[in-house]
Amino acid sequence: MERLQKVIANLGYCSRRKAEQLILEGKVKVNDELITELGYKVKNSDKIIVEDTILDNNKSYEYYLLNKPKGVVTTTKDEKGRKTVVDLIDTKTRIYPIGRLDYDTTGLLILTNDGNLTNLLNSPSSMVDKTYIAKINGILTNLELKALKLGILIDNRKTSKAKVKVKSVNRKEKTSIVELTIHEGRNHQVKKMFEKLGYEVIKLKREKYANLTLLGVKTGDYRKLTTKEVKILYNIGKNS
Ligand code: URA
Repeated sequence: MERLQKVIANLGYCSRRKAEQLILEGKVKVNDELITELGYKVKNSDKIIVEDTILDNNKSYEYYLLNKPKGVVTTTKDEKGRKTVVDLIDTKTRIYPIGRLDYDTTGLLILTNDGNLTNLLNSPSSMVDKTYIAKINGILTNLELKALKLGILIDNRKTSKAKVKVKSVNRKEKTSIVELTIHEGRNHQVKKMFEKLGYEVIKLKREKYANLTLLGVKTGDYRKLTTKEVKILYNIGKNS
């Protein structure tokens, strides 16, 4: 038995807060009975109807690993009509991305309709390692490298410890390729960390997410996650 608002959110209909609002507004029925209390608990076999939509409480989940190309937004719908990451995946299921990559960032993104896993991996305490390769317009000093590793103050809060490696330096072009592994997922975090040190990120790619890599998945392509991979993600989420 789980709380109604949690089940609605986990089924991917909306956020838990929005689900609470819908319950209070009298827009949710369980087994054709109107429910307006937030503590109400439901079981798997209960029929949940939200705003006249029947939610499938026994639905099967889908999990995709996408190699996101540039020029695609990480949302399910874009007001400006731009292509979204969901448009790249051939499914009739309402899937959505876990976390976010900027419009011009490429690389590894997970999409699913499993709200439970999404909540676990998106929670601020989640310890999922994400590895990025950044091309920046400069050459880091040792002190700057240390600062990136120890934490940089962005938006009035220090970033947590990061693993940072300079992969290559082009002295003629005055650019560097830097590998950065972080477990937070703050907005534009990588770009802001470099920006704070006076560098611009010219290119950004996410190469790893937890145990997953882009191996065998070309830019713009995707594959389904295996059951084992999903299990590992669950374990990481639960132990964070
Ligand atoms: N950090 C960024 O700045 N952008 C991304 O897309 C991901 C992480």
